[in-house]
Amino acid sequence: MNRPADPFQPVSKEALAFVGTNPIPAKPYYDPDYFQLEVEAVFKKTWMQIGHICELPQPGSFIVRELDFAGVSILITRGKDDEIRAFHNVCTHRGTRLEQATEGRKSMFSCPYHMWTFASDGELKSAPDFERFYVTDKSQCNLPKIAVGVCAGLIFVNLDKSPEQSLADFIGPLAERLEQLPVARATSFSEYTYEVDANWKLTYDNFQENYHLRFIHPRSGEAAGGEENPFGYPTQYGFHDPHRTQTIWSNPAPKVKPFQMFGFTKGAIMSMKDGLDMTIKDYFGIFPSLFILGNASTPFSQSIMPIAHNRSRSVIRLYWVGEDDSATRRFAQEFALATALDIHSEDRAVIEAGHKGLASGALQHIHFQSQEVLCRHLFKEVDKRVQAYKASHAGEKQ
Ligand code: FES
Ligand SMILES: [Fe+2]
Repeated sequence: MNRPADPFQPVSKEALAFVGTNPIPAKPYYDPDYFQLEVEAVFKKTWMQIGHICELPQPGSFIVRELDFAGVSILITRGKDDEIRAFHNVCTHRGTRLEQATEGRKSMFSCPYHMWTFASDGELKSAPDFERFYVTDKSQCNLPKIAVGVCAGLIFVNLDKSPEQSLADFIGPLAERLEQLPVARATSFSEYTYEVDANWKLTYDNFQENYHLRFIHPRSGEAAGGEENPFGYPTQYGFHDPHRTQTIWSNPAPKVKPFQMFGFTKGAIMSMKDGLDMTIKDYFGIFPSLFILGNASTPFSQSIMPIAHNRSRSVIRLYWVGEDDSATRRFAQEFALATALDIHSEDRAVIEAGHKGLASGALQHIHFQSQEVLCRHLFKEVDKRVQAYKASHAGEKQ
């Protein structure tokens, strides 16, 4: 979709009407029963990003991630053969949580209870007094595997025992564009996480529209918008099966304070020095709850994990390429992180206020305008899966 002449509406309302124009039901944004359906129909069946390969730099490196909505702990390892694998972080003797640390490096994982010991490829290596068990073959007791894949340096897992699609099929042609982003070459990152009292879709949607920028972020919103395009609406939208993209508007005359200009300029200089493509200004919304900003000086990603129908956890990362080798680079990174923190602290209150209002049951429907089309698209993709799941389980006792 190309940008038509009207600069105040970079993509016309009519051009986006194909995604739908109806009001959207409010209940799916707060209802615990709908959330349970989402867990089954979406989160237990789709690829979810939970890490980056730079967290597993050497054979024996491991990370542990919790998926609260499913009560699942995942151990991700890099084996001696360099392969990345994922397992349920559960000892196969009697189910004790195997690894307690959240990250580290070791060649063997020993269960604290009776010392069953597993290699980083999941194989049960030793079990005290194994002869006394009635299982004769240790290989029956290897760690339970979880499907795992890597795209653009990002590690994805799928809780489905036999995923309907490979990760490559799931990401599709977008993979090629993601591989061009700084995240694909990242060697480190800055991270912060925060929990919000709000449904995951409300949390995610806040980052899928610019309609709120000038009201909630008067400083950054002004910088993003400008006279020509005061809301800072994107110049292009793309829909790629369950995923979506937008091209970020560049304000030709941003009103920024001198220290902001200094910080942004330093970031841009470091990015150019690292050979990153400065022309990419795309946002990638990867279904269900990851988004990445391709922008080289703010290589930002946010993964929103549901905890319950009314609570979510956001993991925000700025991915860095190159060594932390100078004060300028450190300054640019800290500035980018501080800016992201500022923006998120402004967003949080409205996200929670939105959940509270909806959960009161006052509304039957909510409304999305054309420039909130990505929010509409997310709901449609989620609801399609929820309705299909309901239909295929009709008649079963929930
Ligand atoms: S439960 Fe792990 S060794 Fe017994
Ligand atoms: Fe915001």
